[in-house]
Amino acid sequence: MSFDPKALLVTGGAGFIGANFVHHWERAWPEARIIVLDSLTYAGNPQSLAGSRAELVVGDIRDQALVEMLLREHEIDTLVHFAAESHVDRSIHGPAAFVDTNILGTMSLLAAARAVWLAGSGTAHRFHHVSTDEVFGTLGPNDPPFRETTPYAPNSPYAASKAGSDHLVRAWHHTYGLEVTTSNCSNNYGPYQFPEKLIPLFLINALHGRALPIYGDGQQVRDWLHVEDHCRGIEAVLRRGRTGETYCIGGGVELPNLRVIDTLCAAVDTAFAGDPGLAARFPEAPAAQGRPSDSLKTFVADRPGHDRRYAIDCSRARAELGYAPVHDFTTGFADTLAWYLAQEQWWRAIMDGSYRAWVEANYARRG
Ligand code: NAD
Ligand code: TYD
Repeated sequence: MSFDPKALLVTGGAGFIGANFVHHWERAWPEARIIVLDSLTYAGNPQSLAGSRAELVVGDIRDQALVEMLLREHEIDTLVHFAAESHVDRSIHGPAAFVDTNILGTMSLLAAARAVWLAGSGTAHRFHHVSTDEVFGTLGPNDPPFRETTPYAPNSPYAASKAGSDHLVRAWHHTYGLEVTTSNCSNNYGPYQFPEKLIPLFLINALHGRALPIYGDGQQVRDWLHVEDHCRGIEAVLRRGRTGETYCIGGGVELPNLRVIDTLCAAVDTAFAGDPGLAARFPEAPAAQGRPSDSLKTFVADRPGHDRRYAIDCSRARAELGYAPVHDFTTGFADTLAWYLAQEQWWRAIMDGSYRAWVEANYARRG
C-alpha cells in the first residue's frame, strides 16, 4: 500500500540535501504543501530555496512547542528530517553541538510527532529520518558493502550522534507506534553543497589557486551519490517503504578520494581550456596561468579516526521500492562543476561572509 504525502514539514530544508529535496518534491508533486523548519546555522542558506514555494520557518528542531504548533496548524502528515550538524571535521573539534542537535534535536521532534499524530484516534502520518552510512563504521578493501543488517560501529562523534538518533527513531516506532522510516545514504554531491565538504571545497580552492588538502594517502574510498538520486530514493521510501524499516541508499560509485580529486582537477582544466572567460573571472587559478590544477594537490595529516572505506548495497531498496541511481559520476560531476561555475554569487556570498549579515537582517527567528 502506498502513502501519499500531502503536507510536508522538512527540517534542515535550507541545507544542502534538504533544499535539493524541496526543489525535487515541488517538481514531482506540485500540489503538495511544504513547510521548511531550519534554524539557519552556518550551513543553512535561504538562497538555496530561491524559486521554491515552500514557507521557511526559522526555528530550532529542539523547540518542541514550535514543532507541535507547525504540525497542527499546517495539518502536516509527513515529516522529513534532514536537520543536523553534518561535518565530520567539525565534530572532531566540537562534538557537543552534534549531540545537542542530532540526538536531542531528533528526540524533541519525535516527542512532538508523537504528541500530535498519536493523540486520540491518531492521524495517518510518516516520520522519515535521513541518516548516513557512517553509522556502520569502516570497511576493509574486500568486505561486502554495508546493508541494512550491518551492525552499527560509528567511529567519529558525527557518526555516533547519527547512530544515537537512528536508535531513538527506531525506539519511537517500537515503543509508541510512530510510523517511521529511516534511510542510510552514502556521500552526496551536487548543487548547494556547503563549501567545507570535499568536492565544493576543492573546486573553489582550485579556482583561487589555493592548496587542495588531501588527508593521509588519499586512498580512502567513498560511494558517491548524486543528491538528485538521493532525493528520488527518499521519495521512494516515503511512498512505498514499510514503516519501522531502514533502507540503504547509495550511488553505486566507489572511488578513492584521489580519483575524485584527479577528476575534479582535469574537469577544471578542461573548462578553462574551453571558456577563456573563466581565466578572466578566476585569474589566480593555475588553469588560468597554463598550469594544471593538480599542481595544487597537497598531502596533509590524516583526519583522526578516518574511516577507510564506505560502500552501500542497495538491494533492499531496489527490490522493495524499485530504487536505482540514474546519475553516473562523470556526467553528475560535470553538471555539478557547471552549477558551481554558473552560481558564483551563491558560494561567493558564503566565502566572504556577506550572506550571514543578510540572513541576520532578513530572517527573524521563531520560538
Ligand atoms: P547541511 O549541513 O548542509 O544542512 C543541515 C541543515 O540543518 C542546515 O540548513 C542547518 O541550518 C539545519 N540545522 C542544523 N541544526 C538545526 C537545528 N537545531 N534546528 C533546525 N535546523 C537545523 O547537511 P546536509 O549535507 O544537507 O545533510 C542533511 C542530512 O543528511 C543530515 O542529517 C546528514 O547527517 C545526512 N547525510 C548527509 C550526507 C552528505 O553527504 N551530505 C550523507 C549522509 C547523510
Ligand atoms: P567529506 O566531504 O568531509 O565527507 P565524509 O567525511 O562524510 O566522507 O570528506 C570526503 C572524503 O574526503 C573523506 O575521506 C575525507 C576527505 N577529505 C580530504 O581529504 N580533505 C579535505 O579537506 C576534506 C574536507 C575531506
